Amino acid sequence: MSSTSSTSPRAFPARFVWGAATAAYQIEGAATEGGRGPSIWDTFSRTPGKTLNGDTGDVAADHYHRWRDDVALMSELGLGAYRLSISWPRVQPGGRGELNAEGVAFYRDLLDALREAGITPFVTLYHWDLPQELEDAGGWTNRETAYAFAGYARAMARELGDRVAVWTTLNEPWCSAYLGYASGVHAPGRTEPAAALAAAHHLNLAHGLAAAAIRAELGERAQVSITLNLHVTRPADPERAADLEAAHRVDLVGNHIFLGPLLDGSYPVELRRLTSHLSDWSFIRPGDLGLIRQRLDVLGVNYYSTSYVRAREAGAPAAGGTGGHGDSAVSPWVALDDVEFLAPAGPLTAMGWNIEPDGLYELLAALDNAYEGLPLMVTENGAAFDDVVGPDGQVHDAARVDYLHRHLDAVARVIADGADVRGYFLWSLLDNFEWAYGYSKRFGIVHVDYDTQVRTPKDSARWYAALVSAGELLPPVEASARQ
Ligand code: FCB
Repeated sequence: MSSTSSTSPRAFPARFVWGAATAAYQIEGAATEGGRGPSIWDTFSRTPGKTLNGDTGDVAADHYHRWRDDVALMSELGLGAYRLSISWPRVQPGGRGELNAEGVAFYRDLLDALREAGITPFVTLYHWDLPQELEDAGGWTNRETAYAFAGYARAMARELGDRVAVWTTLNEPWCSAYLGYASGVHAPGRTEPAAALAAAHHLNLAHGLAAAAIRAELGERAQVSITLNLHVTRPADPERAADLEAAHRVDLVGNHIFLGPLLDGSYPVELRRLTSHLSDWSFIRPGDLGLIRQRLDVLGVNYYSTSYVRAREAGAPAAGGTGGHGDSAVSPWVALDDVEFLAPAGPLTAMGWNIEPDGLYELLAALDNAYEGLPLMVTENGAAFDDVVGPDGQVHDAARVDYLHRHLDAVARVIADGADVRGYFLWSLLDNFEWAYGYSKRFGIVHVDYDTQVRTPKDSARWYAALVSAGELLPPVEASARQ
């Protein structure tokens, strides 16, 4: 690996995409306006005890009403690209059939405004807000949901077509499958390990069918992608075979359940063997693997932290491994009862996630190595800290600047070492509804006062704007002097 410190600026490729990301349910609000139907996140967040303080996305950052101001804000920051998600129940309330014209118009206007501002839109079709009607029919455990998703994807391609630069089918199917159906900390809140495996397969199938549907509508020029949260997992003791095996199993259940069918055309035999007591995998139908493996124009990578695991000693208590998005008595890591996730060592973010930029370097390098010719993009990276608006009316989020700086340095290093990484989207543009944690965790580079909806760019926003305009990362000291 190349050195981690540098005294000269790190340059990024000229056409590197500099962006920020959000997701519909986390920022839009207007949950019952404009003809939007209910999603699993409406149902889940309104169920007592499911989110911190009973927070819901009913209002969120009110982006549905303030999107023009938010586009202006992005423009002021000089962002080159914006990764947003479409709320499926806003454009197709029941998840099938007729579209809601008002919902489609919302996204059409937003995409037009972005284009006019010179901001390239990257659109995610599914960032976890499944129409409730589809969940009532079994959700992702039902194969039909994959076909409904393809229908929705095709309709969006038809309606929004050339306005979208890159279509990302799914965001982090790991979370949808395992947090939604195994640990239940995310909607729909089910705790059935076997269902999580079926969900993972149907999500893979949904991706493949949707990719084909988008290309059927728009032709081969359509750029198609998927975003994965791949797990960088380290053995507690790299000398101990059992710990290495534990990390390998996390890799199978967390990563290769998606990478395998998407990129290699099969599920690892070891994965099926490891989970055979839970499921016979009969949800795979003949032909599915061919449908899933579609050309990917870019692979989106979300990265926040690493995990450390060891083989559980007999009798050791079940601990950790919640997947970072909430606590549950049930682990999302199906079939990994003998793997113990260690409490992360500091420094930690407000999520309790450890800060390890080298994990991002290693992940991108490993993907570049394994899948030659597959362009990569970091579609999420960022950190929550307990930000406060100071007496000067500003948010001095030095810890976030440091986090971003070190992770972008890792991206620059891996590019310098030959990896084909085309862009970086910071999570997130705005403070927003952080799922099970409600509004308690702030990831934005722009602070949102939820009482007044006033937006205040944090120091990190100014730092990022300067970086985007320069296209090179200054060494830490110079970078802070430039703010
Ligand atoms: C990712 C999600 C995103 C946000 C960040 C912090 O897993 O895709 O919506 O919650 O974590």
